[in-house]
Amino acid sequence: MHADKWAIKAKQSGFKTRAVFKLEEILIKTNSLKGTQKILDIGSAPGGWSHYLKLKLPKSEIYAIDILEMEDIAGVNFFQKSIELIDEIPQINQLKGKFNLVISDIAPNITGINTVDIENIYELNLLTLRAAHRYVENNNGKFIIKTFQNSMFKGLRKEMGLLFKTVQTFKPAASKKQSAEIYLYGAKKQ
Ligand SMILES: C[S@@+](CC[C@H](N)C(=O)[O-])C[C@H]1O[C@@H](n2cnc3c(N)ncnc32)[C@H](O)[C@@H]1O
Repeated sequence: MHADKWAIKAKQSGFKTRAVFKLEEILIKTNSLKGTQKILDIGSAPGGWSHYLKLKLPKSEIYAIDILEMEDIAGVNFFQKSIELIDEIPQINQLKGKFNLVISDIAPNITGINTVDIENIYELNLLTLRAAHRYVENNNGKFIIKTFQNSMFKGLRKEMGLLFKTVQTFKPAASKKQSAEIYLYGAKKQ
């Protein structure tokens, strides 16, 4: 499908952004919606992924966190805080080890200085990976993170392999070919 068609499809489906189709493809290929009740959405604003998941799984409990404000989404518990401070949110902290699915679309502000941007992405992704490891359930928990194909990517994938039994890389059809974005999927189970 041509890239712009995804935007039209999103509008027709009542979704906030075309980015939901990138997430959807990975969720389907990894069978990650089955049995999912508790979801943690990291870097959630403006709310496209949370909104999509609430529509797909109306009975799910969704907790979302971002440094920016996010419009209210019925049934989504949003906290305006940095991922660095996630453990300080009591409502989320008490759910350590209980989330079936953790998703992250987190991305730092781009400075334009390539080496700085690559380092910032890696640091933020590493923090997110470690938080996901603390919050996801140990038996069958799943984690999906958007990151970027760069010189630190292999290192990030390796770190993920230390915390998750299965690690897979995805480049969904809705992700523009020329974009460096790439997704990692981690599962606690083999
Ligand atoms: C690409 S957007 C997420 C889009 C979202 N998945 C959606 O579907 O609407 C990336 C988000 O990461 C957030 N972010 C960046 N640094 C963060 C941090 N330290 N803690 C939490 N969120 C952060 C940004 O504020 C931004 O809203």
